[in-house]
Amino acid sequence: MPKTKTIYICEHCGNESPKWLGHCPQCGAWNSYVEKEATRASSPSAPLATVQELSQISLEQSPRIVLGFPEFNRVLGGGLVPGSLVFLGGDPGIGKSTLLLQVAATAAGDRGVLYVAGEESASQIKLRAERLGLRGEGIFVLPESRLEHVLEGAQQLSPKLVIVDSIQAVYLEELEGAAGSLSQVRECTLKLMQWAKSSGTPVFLIGHVTKEGAIAGPKTLEHIVDVVLYLEGEHFSTYRILRSAKNRFGSTNEIGMFEMRDQGLAELANPSEVFLSQHTKEAIGSVVVPTMEGTRPLLVEIQALTNPTAFGLPRRTANGVDFNRLLMVAAVLSRRAQIPLGNQDIIANVAGGIRVNEPAADLGLALAIASSFRGRKVPAELVAVGEVGLSGELRSVYQLDRRIAEAAKLGFKTCILPPSKLNSSPQIELRTAKNLSEALKAALG
Ligand code: TYD
Ligand code: MG
Repeated sequence: MPKTKTIYICEHCGNESPKWLGHCPQCGAWNSYVEKEATRASSPSAPLATVQELSQISLEQSPRIVLGFPEFNRVLGGGLVPGSLVFLGGDPGIGKSTLLLQVAATAAGDRGVLYVAGEESASQIKLRAERLGLRGEGIFVLPESRLEHVLEGAQQLSPKLVIVDSIQAVYLEELEGAAGSLSQVRECTLKLMQWAKSSGTPVFLIGHVTKEGAIAGPKTLEHIVDVVLYLEGEHFSTYRILRSAKNRFGSTNEIGMFEMRDQGLAELANPSEVFLSQHTKEAIGSVVVPTMEGTRPLLVEIQALTNPTAFGLPRRTANGVDFNRLLMVAAVLSRRAQIPLGNQDIIANVAGGIRVNEPAADLGLALAIASSFRGRKVPAELVAVGEVGLSGELRSVYQLDRRIAEAAKLGFKTCILPPSKLNSSPQIELRTAKNLSEALKAALG
């Protein structure tokens, strides 16, 4: 008889301890430890694996399942790999269930798709499907949260694809702890992983990730599953970005862009056009910047407004740009480019509710602020890209050629950029600036 060993696990952060603790030394949670039997990776009766030389291993390659959404396929690396476990995370209400129900409808062929509804009733799913204009043929709904029954149902139906909505709602009866607790989430994921691998059926797991509670659950699953996707977006905005944080079968640089409409999520094939559709030519305090989202160039409009501080300390507000970068750009403008902003409130904004996190947008932000401060219009058909250093110098950014090509494609005529190997382009006039002062002169005169 092998000796069973018990360990204690913090339900919040997953910290393990040989004895019970009232206060978790890792995450600081109180009374969060639960008893758990230490499990072995494989049972002693499992057959022993043999050593194989890599060159001798034969691939049983089965083709990827291509879903009806090209954007989704691209993020997955060219389709869904049979037997893979894909986690889809995101804030509650962002559109995860909607997206996967739409995916289910495109994937349901002769074998059908199993939709495990742990959170909603079958009629709620039906309502959503009606709203999406889906008849629901080939989508089999299982309103069940006991994982043993879920696996039984999946085994019987033998579908093309299984969707579990959500991993926090299912539980194993043999295990202690409520659904959504760390041990339940982890064990359920492992069970689903085993089933996916043995049956060769891809499984989607939906998981809620909240900004503060990101630790409990999904974060700990990232190393178990094959692919981790996040659906992101601001709640006030209708745009959604599907990003992959981990992909065992493809690159994590790809993103997919969607828009939430009345009839569900629709793909954005030309996102730059959408984000610039409201862009007025020759505006004060508005600059178009070619940014990169993964491997895709995306043109966004950065706006800034300066206003003399009425009372107390000057305020800075950043929407869609990093707050610390705004502070840095404002300080460099004041000290290195003779734009005194010490008594000015500054509001920066990215149109369309999208976030720009890369330093390549620094120059655009600086020009927008300077344009607003001086009351000078930024010429129409101008884009600017470059990282701003603390001494006011401009630094080159990666993928310059792709950014410039995208700007040219949308009809922009001039690009202000840092010195780089690229010194001419057939489609667009390139104006090199070594530092902020030169860039200001080129843009605002
Ligand atoms: P949902 O998929 O339920 O979010 P999640 O599963 O991530 O919690 O979608 C939530 C929001 O999407 C809901 O607030 C309404 C909106 N929505 C639309 O705008 N159009 C639609 O066609 C659907 C189905 C939902
Ligand atoms: Mg949902």
